[in-house]
Amino acid sequence: MARVFFIPVTLSLLAIFANYGTAKVWERCDLARTLLHTYQFPRNQIDTWMCIAYRESRYDSLHINKNIDGSQDYGLFQINNRYWCTNSESPQPNQDMCNVTCDKVLYSLDETIKCIKIMYAKSRNTWQPWITYPYCQKEDITQYTKGCTGL
Ligand SMILES: *[C@@H]1O[C@H](CO)[C@@H](O)[C@H](O)[C@H]1NC(C)=O
Repeated sequence: MARVFFIPVTLSLLAIFANYGTAKVWERCDLARTLLHTYQFPRNQIDTWMCIAYRESRYDSLHINKNIDGSQDYGLFQINNRYWCTNSESPQPNQDMCNVTCDKVLYSLDETIKCIKIMYAKSRNTWQPWITYPYCQKEDITQYTKGCTGL
């Protein structure tokens, strides 16, 4: 009997992994290369984005954090549900400046990157939205891409 169910279960698991293929804890150099080559961030920004992702989520795309003000932060770059994404738990008024649901941010790297590009642009091309950024300014951020090939 078990065998009968084996193939359908395997196939649906595969479908889930295909859909949610970017929901994972990223390997450091793999994330750095993806930001550079797939999402076309300038090379001289990669170490900073990597520092922010490490400090915000430890490269865990499903990381969620609850803030003291009642808002929550989602994903690799901890996108906030008051200002940038929206969900049923968003504090009001919810600005949703990325025009995206927070779930999409969690499960899609495309949506995450689209949103952080909006955040950066709306902040006059600075990393001001990220509370961890000042720490990245005070350390040697080359460590976040050290030893990575293909950068
Ligand atoms: C917001 O997103 C929705 C769904 O993706 C889209 O249809 C709509 O045009 C977007 N609105 C703005 C202002 O970009």
